[in-house]
This record gives sequence, structure tokens and C-alpha cells, in this order.
Amino acid sequence: MGGAHEPLHPHKQMKTSSSSSKGGNHGYFVPRPVCAWLVCGFVALALLHVLCCTPPGTQEAVLSPLLQYVDDTYNFVSSGPESCNYTEGRWVYAPGHARRYNGTECHVKDSHNCIRNGRPDTGYLDWRWQPAGCRLPSFSARAFLSAVRGKHVAFVGDSMSRNQAQSLVCLLVGAGVPHRVVYRDADPHKFNLWRYAFPAHDVTVSFYWAPFIARATGKALNDSLPQNMNHVHLDALDDRWAADADGMDVVVLSIAHWPLNGAIYYNGSARIGHHGHQELSPEEDIGYAWPMKVKYRMALDRLMTSSGGSGGSGGGSRARAPRTVVIATFSPGHFEGNTLTTLCPRKEPYKEGEKEPRHLDMELVGLVYDEVESARARNGGGGEAGGGGARVEVLDVTKLAVMRPDGHPGLYMHRDPFAHGGPQPWMSSDCVHFCLPGPVDTFNEILQQILRTKR
Ligand SMILES: *[C@@H]1O[C@H](CO)[C@@H](O)[C@H](O)[C@H]1NC(C)=O
Ligand SMILES: *[C@@H]1O[C@H](CO)[C@@H](O)[C@H](O)[C@H]1NC(C)=O
Ligand SMILES: *[C@@H]1O[C@H](CO)[C@@H](O)[C@H](O)[C@H]1NC(C)=O
Ligand SMILES: *[C@@H]1O[C@H](CO)[C@@H](O)[C@H](O)[C@H]1NC(C)=O
Repeated sequence: MGGAHEPLHPHKQMKTSSSSSKGGNHGYFVPRPVCAWLVCGFVALALLHVLCCTPPGTQEAVLSPLLQYVDDTYNFVSSGPESCNYTEGRWVYAPGHARRYNGTECHVKDSHNCIRNGRPDTGYLDWRWQPAGCRLPSFSARAFLSAVRGKHVAFVGDSMSRNQAQSLVCLLVGAGVPHRVVYRDADPHKFNLWRYAFPAHDVTVSFYWAPFIARATGKALNDSLPQNMNHVHLDALDDRWAADADGMDVVVLSIAHWPLNGAIYYNGSARIGHHGHQELSPEEDIGYAWPMKVKYRMALDRLMTSSGGSGGSGGGSRARAPRTVVIATFSPGHFEGNTLTTLCPRKEPYKEGEKEPRHLDMELVGLVYDEVESARARNGGGGEAGGGGARVEVLDVTKLAVMRPDGHPGLYMHRDPFAHGGPQPWMSSDCVHFCLPGPVDTFNEILQQILRTKR
């Protein structure tokens, strides 16, 4: 399995420094015209080399990163991220694009560490998201950290939220940014509450397990209970993250899978309904949508009423920018076959037009846009922070996630699942989360653009 994680090659590093210079540091930058001529010269020579000296089969492999570099440079010179909508697009072949870190070195959950677990195919790491009308720049640790200097970036939500939070930490750690673990769950197999610090930029990144955002007991706290056995309070936020809310500058919320699985809902001590409980009266089934709206509204109202955080690792007394709240849309799973090995067996993304989001997926996306719109309206209109309020944005990842049936651990959520003559009956197959590294890194490429863009 060696070689699956490659260090950045020189070409990549070049690209990183060009795209990250947007973050503000122009100190040692070559003047733009000189730079452009250098790029042209480099590209011409490289093209010549590719066209005359390599066998036809490898031409695409060589050309793709080259075009990516040219494209990144062009994007840097021509248009800002302001003009871009990253929602619609397609996955294009880009060898090595997602080979940016070693999951073991940034402590990803074992079940998402596909390479360590022996997944033999690594082609799922060779794709990048190409939005319909623009270019999505690669993740740049420097650009990201500049955009959130002095801030506490908190992820609040379910296991997809954790998947994205771990991806962000890995993208930063994998780029060699000095870091320390501020705290981590006492149980090394749990990843429900943790915080990393990146002291050079006074940035902290944390995750808060809260699969309903709201206060919940049952399965949410005790994994051995049945899937629908959740007791959720629609009048209170989950206590753990809400206690720290004032100290959060960027909050990325992500829930969706758990409300679909089922729960019993309360207002104070009164039961107000349920979803997914056959043993309870069908008239009391209030579905998943309305409770989700209530939860988003409660969270957004909480996060819009106080501004600024206590900051990164130090926390200072200087005035703070208004908080940014980002809601990530649903990232659906891919379940196809009905045996362990055929549940999510694909090795490549879907091609354009091959797969559309389901009605349910789009309903959940619409719900997020609706709540964000109404929060902005309550907040004083537009997307502009009003009266010390927060900026609220949608991180719309549904389409790009739908197109990546190949990015899940599947059986490789277990270490070497075929080691003893084939998968064992007790094993399961994860077709919901993404391998790390993997397609979820793209969520953070888009988050980076959201945070770098001023509204
Ligand atoms: C990832 O890092 C671990 C620990 O440093 C190392 O043992 C492993 O070989 C690395 N994996 C790859 C694919 O480089
Ligand atoms: C981006 O495109 C999607 C899909 O076409 C659309 O629903 C959404 O409103 C657009 N977002 C913005 C900010 O224009
Ligand atoms: C979790 O639920 C199981 C099954 O009901 C129960 O036996 C166990 O005591 C619970 N664990 C905790 C920590 O509450
Ligand atoms: C909970 O009850 C209070 C008081 O009756 C009411 O104002 C509120 O709207 C209820 N909340 C929900 C989510 O039903």
C-alpha cells in the first residue's frame, strides 16, 4: 500500500503558494507579468515534452495537473471567488488531487482510514470538483488560516460533520502547519469532543457531537440502543456546544441522517410527537422536516444574538468580526447491493447525468436554503451582518456528494476485511461517510472559498 500517500511534489507546492497569496501576503511575490510569462514558457515546454515524448496513454495523466495549475493561476489572476456558485458541476480526473495527507498522522477515526485499512484501489483520490461556471481552487492551508486568523472554527453536528471536521484538521496538519491537541475525548476510540490549536495563526478547530443540534438523549448518547431510540427536546439546544457558543467565530452545522432515522420529540416535559416509531400512534408522527426546521431556527437564533468569539487559543479582548454560520447540506449515502461486498462497490464517480439527487435529498437541501433565508430576514435582511449579527451561508455539498459513490470506506471501515478468507458475518459496510483523505476534503475547499469571500 506504499505510495498511496505521496508528499507534495514541487508542482503542487508552486500551485499552493500562488493560490494562497490571495490571502494577503505579497511580500516576496514575483510581479504578475513576469509570472505570467514564466508560466507560459513553462507550459509551452511541458506541452512540447508531453506531446512528443510520452506514450499516448499517459498524456491525459500528465496534462491534467498541468491544466489544473494553469487554471488555478488563471483563476487567481482573473476572477475572485465572489462570482462563483459551487453547487452544480462534475467531478473531473485530476491525478493526485486528493492525496494530501496520511489519515493516521492526523488521527482520523480508524473506520474512515481506508488506506490504513487496506483498501487496494486508490483511484477515488484522483478527482476534483469542477463547478459549472468557475474554478474551485485547491485547499491551501495558508489561505484558509489567513481567512480565519484569531478565530475558533467549530463544527457542530453528526458524524458527517465530524468527517468534515477531521478532514479540515488533516488538510492543515498534512500541510505541515504546527499544531497541538487542546483536548480530546478520554476514550481514544471516540471522537465526539475535541479541539486542535494552530498557534501560529491563533486558530482553533473543534468538533461537538450533537446529531440533532438540540438536546437529545438515547441513541445519541448510547450507541447500543436502537437507531430510532432518540429523545429530542425541541425547546433546548444540546448543552455541550451551546455552553461554548459565545466563543465560536465560525460555526459549521451539519445534521440530517439522525432525524431521518427516527426520534421522539418533546417540548419541555410534554411529548409533542415522534418520527419512525411504529409502536406509537401514526397521528402523532410529525415527520423529520418540521423538527429539523425548529432545530436550525433555534441554533441560528442563538448564534445570531451574540457576536464574535473568545477567539483562537488565547482569546483576546480586541473587537471581533461578526460570526459566520454555515449550514452544510445533506450528504446522502450510497446503498446499492444487498450483500456486504456489493453495498457500495463502485470505484469511480458517477458521470454527468448518470445520477441525480433524489427527491428526499432535494427536499432537505431546500429546507436548509429556506431556514438560511428566513434567518437572514430576521437578522436584518440580505446576507449582510446586521446589528452585530451573523453572516449565514449554505455549504451546498449534496450534488457533489451524490456523485461520489466510490468515496466511502465500505468494508474497508474494518482493517484488512478480506484477511481471513473474506468478510466476516459480524462486519458491516460504511457507505455513508467518506474515506479520509477523500471526497469530503472538497467540502473544505468550498468552505475555504466561503470564508475568503467577503459579503
Ligand atoms: C501513514 O503514516 C503511518 C504512521 O506514520 C505510517 O506507518 C504509514 O506507513 C503511512 N501510510 C502511508 C500510506 O504512507
Ligand atoms: C447556486 O446554484 C444552485 C443550483 O443551481 C441554486 O439553487 C442556488 O440558489 C445558487 N446559489 C446562489 C447563492 O446563487
Ligand atoms: C446503553 O444501553 C444499553 C441497552 O439498553 C444498556 O444496557 C446500557 O446500560 C446503556 N449504557 C449507558 C452508559 O447508559
Ligand atoms: C413549546 O411550548 C411553548 C409554550 O407553550 C411554545 O411557545 C413553543 O412554541 C413550543 N415549541 C415547540 C417547538 O413546539
